[in-house]
Amino acid sequence: MTTVPMTESLCQAGSSGVAKAPRPTGASQSVTIPGAHFRRVLGNVPTSVAVVAGIGPDGQPVGLAIGTFTSVSMDPPLVAFCPGESSTSWPKIRMAKRFCVNVLAAGQEDVCAAFASKQPDKFRGLSWTAAGNGAPRLESVVAWVECDLEAEYQAGDHSIAVGRVTHLETGTGEMPLVFLGGRYLSVD
Ligand SMILES: Cc1cc2nc3c(=O)[nH]c(=O)nc-3n(C[C@H](O)[C@H](O)[C@H](O)COP(=O)(O)O)c2cc1C
Repeated sequence: MTTVPMTESLCQAGSSGVAKAPRPTGASQSVTIPGAHFRRVLGNVPTSVAVVAGIGPDGQPVGLAIGTFTSVSMDPPLVAFCPGESSTSWPKIRMAKRFCVNVLAAGQEDVCAAFASKQPDKFRGLSWTAAGNGAPRLESVVAWVECDLEAEYQAGDHSIAVGRVTHLETGTGEMPLVFLGGRYLSVD
């Protein structure tokens, strides 16, 4: 496995003043895992589906579907997700340094499909309002979490983006959308 050096732009010190640098353990082995096998095995791990949305430098809303959203810390309140290096929306959201994580509800498969696509205007036909931090808040989600970008760690072909929560609420959606084995499931 290759250890990727942190760049100044990706790794920022938090309010604690502690440098957010990765701590390599030295335990990494160089093993080749076929991509299809990796996907098949890890497809057994159910994930939530969220849309991370922000306002791009041109003032237009941007967002992408994310299955890696997780809570990290309560004090301070931190969440994280993993944007891939091929994402075209994430660099624009990173520039804004603030975003809203919209956790999708059962029945919002079409919303997920739109935000998992590369179509230019993913927000067309969707109802959304500006959250307190200005980032897009989608209608009918189960939860939305407003964040400032706290830090970002490079991790292979993805990064780990850590958001400091500035506000969060449950939405009107009742049950979350779940992704498992390449399919959407609804939790009853
Ligand atoms: C259920 C699901 C989960 C996904 N999770 C992630 C993720 O965690 N990170 C990521 O970078 N892309 C993820 N994707 C893929 C992106 O949504 C997709 O690559 C999208 O085209 C990115 O759009 P962008 O180029 O506008 O950023 C996921 C897609 C689906 C359908």
